[in-house]
Amino acid sequence: MNVLEVENLVKEYRIPGQPPIRVLDGVTFAVAEGEHVAVTGRSGAGKTTLLNILGGLDRPTSGTVRCTKNVGFVFQSFRLMPELTVLENVILPSMAGVKTARVPRATEKARELLAKVGLSDRADHLPAELSGGEQQRVALARALMCEPEVIFADEPTGNLDAMTGAEILKLLFGFGGKPFALVMVTHSAEAAAQCDRTLHLEGGRFA
Ligand SMILES: Nc1ncnc2c1ncn2[C@@H]1O[C@H](COP(=O)(O)OP(=O)(O)OP(=O)(O)O)[C@@H](O)[C@H]1O
Ligand SMILES: [Mg+2]
Repeated sequence: MNVLEVENLVKEYRIPGQPPIRVLDGVTFAVAEGEHVAVTGRSGAGKTTLLNILGGLDRPTSGTVRCTKNVGFVFQSFRLMPELTVLENVILPSMAGVKTARVPRATEKARELLAKVGLSDRADHLPAELSGGEQQRVALARALMCEPEVIFADEPTGNLDAMTGAEILKLLFGFGGKPFALVMVTHSAEAAAQCDRTLHLEGGRFA
């Protein structure tokens, strides 16, 4: 079964007075349950644009995205809420959406996830008090909070040194629990090699 089906995705950016810039030009692919896919491509190829559309953070100009209900997102720059504690950041996605979609025992669950990423003792700290690698571990716990069928990760190790990045990947690939499909933008051949397959974005399409 596919957890993600993308058909003929086109994205144009329009700046008034200038011709539209076509960044995605007919992207078509599918991701099976539990499958790990790496997305590569040069800077400016449209990887972030694509991932944002897949994750529902942006709209395509045309084309369709069919995706299962629960998704998680991990950003290159962590994007934790600075005024919330680590624990509150992890709980946050479980508070979104309709009441029936909320996660039962959210605080307990968030604490379990923080234990899994090795940050139990940091639950009441603010993100600014954490290192980059620690912040990305919090972001990983947050992405897993709603038990997603798919995780979208946009260069999750891009802002980390090689060793810290490797730790994040180890957590991501060896998390245990409910399996999830992964679509990961990466510049690292090592990270891509850990995925089931690699899709290369070039000229607005997968080559
Ligand atoms: N809001 C926007 N308005 C106009 N152009 C944009 C906008 N966002 C992105 N672009 C352009 O679209 C192209 C693709 O950008 P995108 O961020 O998707 O690239 P990327 O593959 O993620 O690059 P990188 O590896 O550097 O992160 C770039 O040329 C960028 O300048
Ligand atoms: Mg990008």
